[in-house]
Amino acid sequence: MQRKDLDQWWRSAVIYQVYPRSFADTNNDGIGDLPGIIERLPYLENLGVDALWISPFYPSPQCDAGYDVADYTDINPEYGTLADFDRLVEQAHARSMRVIIDVVPNHSSIKHPWFEDALAAGPNSPERARYIFRHSPDGPPNNWGSMFGGSAWSKVRPLTGKDEDEDWWYLHLFDSSQPDFDWSNPEVHELFKNYFRFWLDRGADGFRVDVAHGMVKVPGLPDDTVGPDRWTKGVRPESYLETRTMPYFDQDGVHDIFREWRQVLNEYGPDRMLVAEAWVEPPSRGALYVREDEMSQSFNFDYLKSPWDANHIRKVIDQSRREMGAVGAPVTWVLSNHDVVRHASRYGYRDTINREAGIGPRDPQPDRELGLARALAATTFMLALPGSAYIYQGEELGLPEHTQIADADRQDPTFARTGGKIPGRDGCRVPLPWHATAPNYGFGTGSPWLPQPDYWGNYAADREDADPTSTLNHYRKALKLRRELGLGTGDFRWVDSLEGVLVFENKGVTVALNFTDQEWAVQVSGNIVLAAGKATMGAQLTQLTLGPNSAAWVK
Ligand code: NOJ
Ligand code: CA
Repeated sequence: MQRKDLDQWWRSAVIYQVYPRSFADTNNDGIGDLPGIIERLPYLENLGVDALWISPFYPSPQCDAGYDVADYTDINPEYGTLADFDRLVEQAHARSMRVIIDVVPNHSSIKHPWFEDALAAGPNSPERARYIFRHSPDGPPNNWGSMFGGSAWSKVRPLTGKDEDEDWWYLHLFDSSQPDFDWSNPEVHELFKNYFRFWLDRGADGFRVDVAHGMVKVPGLPDDTVGPDRWTKGVRPESYLETRTMPYFDQDGVHDIFREWRQVLNEYGPDRMLVAEAWVEPPSRGALYVREDEMSQSFNFDYLKSPWDANHIRKVIDQSRREMGAVGAPVTWVLSNHDVVRHASRYGYRDTINREAGIGPRDPQPDRELGLARALAATTFMLALPGSAYIYQGEELGLPEHTQIADADRQDPTFARTGGKIPGRDGCRVPLPWHATAPNYGFGTGSPWLPQPDYWGNYAADREDADPTSTLNHYRKALKLRRELGLGTGDFRWVDSLEGVLVFENKGVTVALNFTDQEWAVQVSGNIVLAAGKATMGAQLTQLTLGPNSAAWVK
C-alpha cells in the first residue's frame, strides 16, 4: 500500500453512521447515549466497519435533534460526559475504528451563549454581528424560506420583549431555533478553528461538515427564486434541502473556509479528514469541495437519490468517477442517512414516486418485502464499488422506515413548520431493536423518544445474529470479503450488460445486479462468493442466473 493510502484511510473506508439519540440507551431514559455506543463497539467491530461517524452529541435544546448546538465543546448531559467521549475514542481506536464527529457551522442554537449575548446586547452591537440580524419594518427582510417550511426569518422582539427590537429579524435557514452565523465575521472563523483544535486534541479522526454548501450568503441578501413555503407551494425541491443555486448555497466563498480548516487539520496530520454534506448541482460544482487543499470527500447524494433504474445508476457511477477523478478525490457511495427515507422503504414502490418528504400513515405504503430485497441487492452492489461507503445505523438489520408514526409523536420540525403536510424524517430515526423479546426491543427500558413499530422484533440484532441468512450476517460477510479482496482500493470497469442488469468488474470480481422482476442470465466465469436474493451458477461455471431484484459477486 502506498503512503497516501495509509494516511488517507478514508479513501476506501466503510463508515458507519451512528445517530446517538436512537442507537442504544444505557440509563433507561428513552434516549440513546455515549455509553450505549461504547457498549456496542464490539458489535460494530464484528460488523466490520472501519470508522464511525457520530451525529451531533453537543449540549442542545434538541429542536432539530442536536443540529441546534448550544455549546460546541461539550457533551449533551443526556448523552454523557467528555470523559465518556474520551473513552469512546480510546476504545474505538483500540478496535481499529476511527471516529468522525459532526460539525455544525452554518448555525448555532438560539441557546448558544453568543446568540443569548446578541439578544441582550441589542441592535447594531458587535454581539449581533456574529449572526444575521436585519431591520425591516415591512415584513421579513427578503423572501427566503426555511428548509423546514415557512419563512427563514423570525422576529427578535418576541425573544427580548424590548421596544428597540421592533422590526428587527434574524435569519435561520432551518428552524427558528437555529440562527445562521455571519461568516463574514472573523470571530466566527476563530470559533470554529478553536472547535476543531478542541476535538482534534481529544482524538477525533475527522469531521462531517453539516450544510457545507451553506455559510456564505450573497451580500445584500437578494431574493431567491423559490420563496418561502417551498414544501407547500408546489415547488418540489429535490430534497429537503433545495439543491438549485441559491443566494445562500454553494457560494464560491465557502471554499476559503474549507482551506482554512484543512490547514488546522494539517497541524494534526494528513490522516485527519473532512467529509462534506453538500447538496449541490451540477456534480462538477460538488467536486470543487474536495479539491486537494479542501475537504477529503463528500457524500454522493446523486447516488443516494437514484431511482431503482439501471441506466440511471450507471450514469451516476460514471459521472461520480469522472468528477471525483478529475480532482483526485475518492468516490463515496451512500444509500441511507438520518435525513432520507430508508432505502429498504424507498425501493418498496413499483412506481417512481418521490418520497423525499418522508412517509406518513396517510401516504401509499411501501411493499416491505420488495423494498428489502432491492435494498439488499443494492447494498451488495454498492459495497463492491471502489471508494468509500457509508452505512446508516440499522440498515445492516434491513430496517424499513417507520411509516406509521402518529402526528402527536412527530419530532422533526418540518412536520410542524409545514402544518403537518410533510411527514418529515422521524421515520428513519426510530430507536434500534437489539433484542427481539426485551422491552422496547432492547433499546433501553425507558419509553423511547420516538415510538418503535410493533414488528421491530423481527429485525432485532440478536435474532439476526442467530440466523445465518439474515441481513446482518449478509452485511458482515460482504464487509469481510470487501476487505479481503481489497475492493475499496480496487479498479473498475463495466462488463457489457443487459437492459435492466448492471455488471462490473473490480479486482477480478464480477458484480451483477438485476433491477428487473424477471430472471436474467449473465455470461461470467467463476464461483459465487456473495449473493443477495436468488443467484445460481451453471454447471460449467460460465453462466450466472440472477433472480428478480438480486445481486451477486462472482470470482
Ligand atoms: C443537515 C442535517 O443532516 C440535518 O439533519 C439537519 O436538520 C440540517 N443539516 C440542519 O442542521
Ligand atoms: Ca440514555
